[in-house]
Amino acid sequence: MRKKVTIVGSGNVGATAAHWIAAKELADVVLIDIIEGVPQGKGLDLLEAMPIEKRDSSITGTNDYKDTANSDIVVVTAGIPRKPGMSRDDLLNTNLGIMKAVIGEAVKYSPNCILIIVSNPLDAMAQAAYKMSGFPRERVIGMAGVLDSARFRAFIAAELKVSVENVTAFVLGGHGDTMVPLPRYSTVAGIPITEWMDKATVDRLVQRTRDGGAEIVKYLKTGSAYYAPSAAVAEMVEAIVKDKKKILPCAAYLQGEYGINGLYVGVPVKLGAKGIEQIIEIKLTAEEKAGLDKSAAAVKELVGVIGV
Ligand code: NAI
Ligand code: 2OP
Repeated sequence: MRKKVTIVGSGNVGATAAHWIAAKELADVVLIDIIEGVPQGKGLDLLEAMPIEKRDSSITGTNDYKDTANSDIVVVTAGIPRKPGMSRDDLLNTNLGIMKAVIGEAVKYSPNCILIIVSNPLDAMAQAAYKMSGFPRERVIGMAGVLDSARFRAFIAAELKVSVENVTAFVLGGHGDTMVPLPRYSTVAGIPITEWMDKATVDRLVQRTRDGGAEIVKYLKTGSAYYAPSAAVAEMVEAIVKDKKKILPCAAYLQGEYGINGLYVGVPVKLGAKGIEQIIEIKLTAEEKAGLDKSAAAVKELVGVIGV
């Protein structure tokens, strides 16, 4: 039987995630939004693209959670995006209110689903969704690390003029200014990038990765990135629906791993049919561990503000 993926929020990230998922024929897709007509219109438009793409994915749009019943995965992109001058954290209270409206309905109709949270500030919203859903931590996953490491990979490939296929990268920590790109574990053809570039170049690419979201906001002016974020969602969906056991950086609820307890932070996980099937603990240098702790402290502060 075909898998069913609901995407809550039919804006830039949500609709583009539906596009990637349908075009890869990963699942049937239900788009839902509070705005009447938009999920229906975008869903129908995508459905009409399927004969051209030679895909049998079904895409529907709705404003009624009944139509989302028994989804295998629910992706939450509902929320406001940031505008120039705003940080992801400025979205905190508005998006918490939206999360309250969304999670109860989504889990009522799909009690066995895996939740992928995208709304910002990501780690705090994932923690809120985890607490509101009552799901085990394996089934509430935040999307950020796949995006942040894809940005790092794109910058490394462009700098060295090599194929993106040769580049792997890891970014740990919260999805914010304190994120922790790990040059030591980022490679080109299996060789750490520290062997390919001098420190100043590595530092420049690390900083550009940290500022990656803001760089796009500055260009767009009216919203934030969505092609790479939605492609990152599709990669996570694919790992789950195909039970790939893929190691990807995702926001996960840590219970002692990396010395962090009771907090969503980005770490490498194994993603498969059950959601997070393993949290991978890699050895960190003192400097890397200090960076991760600083990033976790920033997430903890936000989580404290909203009391989740
Ligand atoms: P957008 O404004 O294009 O779309 C958001 C959609 O959510 C709108 O269509 C809106 O009507 C809908 N919405 C609002 N309240 C709702 C509710 N209660 N129920 C259902 N739908 C509701 O924004 P965009 O660009 O799609 O971004 C969405 C969120 O994702 C933002 O919070 C943004 O910051 C975040 N984001 C996170 C990333 C990450 O790496 N975790 C990357 C990119 C965006
Ligand atoms: C990004 O990193 C806005 O969080 C979003 O592009």
